[in-house]
Amino acid sequence: MRFQLLSLLLLPLLAVASTEEQMVLPSESFQDGPGEPFVPVTHSGKPSLADLLTIESSASIFYSYARETELSKLFSDPNANNTLLVPTNKAVIALPRKPHEGPAPIREGVILSEAEFDNLSKKNVERWVSAHIIPFPVSLSSSGEYTTLLEGKNVSFTALDGGKNAPEWARVVLNGDVRLTGIREASNGVMYILDGTVILD
Ligand SMILES: *[C@@H]1O[C@H](CO)[C@@H](O)[C@H](O)[C@H]1NC(C)=O
Ligand SMILES: *[C@@H]1O[C@H](CO)[C@@H](O)[C@H](O)[C@H]1NC(C)=O
Ligand SMILES: *[C@@H]1O[C@H](CO)[C@@H](O)[C@H](O)[C@H]1NC(C)=O
Repeated sequence: MRFQLLSLLLLPLLAVASTEEQMVLPSESFQDGPGEPFVPVTHSGKPSLADLLTIESSASIFYSYARETELSKLFSDPNANNTLLVPTNKAVIALPRKPHEGPAPIREGVILSEAEFDNLSKKNVERWVSAHIIPFPVSLSSSGEYTTLLEGKNVSFTALDGGKNAPEWARVVLNGDVRLTGIREASNGVMYILDGTVILD
């Protein structure tokens, strides 16, 4: 817990630091060990999806869920090019059933052991997060349907009329009624902030 808290406090600082191409560091104070000078990691300039999620406090619940799964490795993979559909905390809180609970209640009379329950929760979280990842770039200039990392689950974008001066992402709805409220461009993909979630059946 203490480590988690610490990393939550530190990560935004690191993410910000890593986007600075030229950092001037005091030569003495950043030592990794005896005679090991601290070498800052610099990317191609743009932050990764992982960096952007770390500082996106309005969507911290999504990132917390994603970090429980291996899927979050994609967010820092420099060779990936994913499109993330990132619900705001408000949208997740409004869900009648939380992502780890899955879409359907456990059948009455079925008693799960703690380990089985943990497994089920983990699987539900994986399904939910993967339905929010389109594993390739998409164009929002017209309506379209795309596969997600959840097998059999597609998402659609529908272009709305009007608002010709608004950016493309503001002129589509996801799955009929979810508005996109922002875009963040990363070195290894794009994320759209949603005022809703991808609903699993
Ligand atoms: C990801 O896809 C976009 C849009 O097709 C492209 O402009 C960009 O160069 C790609 N980035 C990587 C790292 O492949
Ligand atoms: C939980 O999942 C793991 C890995 O899939 C499996 O090896 C284990 O048997 C499962 N445990 C229970 C109690 O279902
Ligand atoms: C998902 O969309 C793809 C095209 O992007 C289509 O080929 C496929 O049949 C669709 N799958 C489902 C389950 O609707």
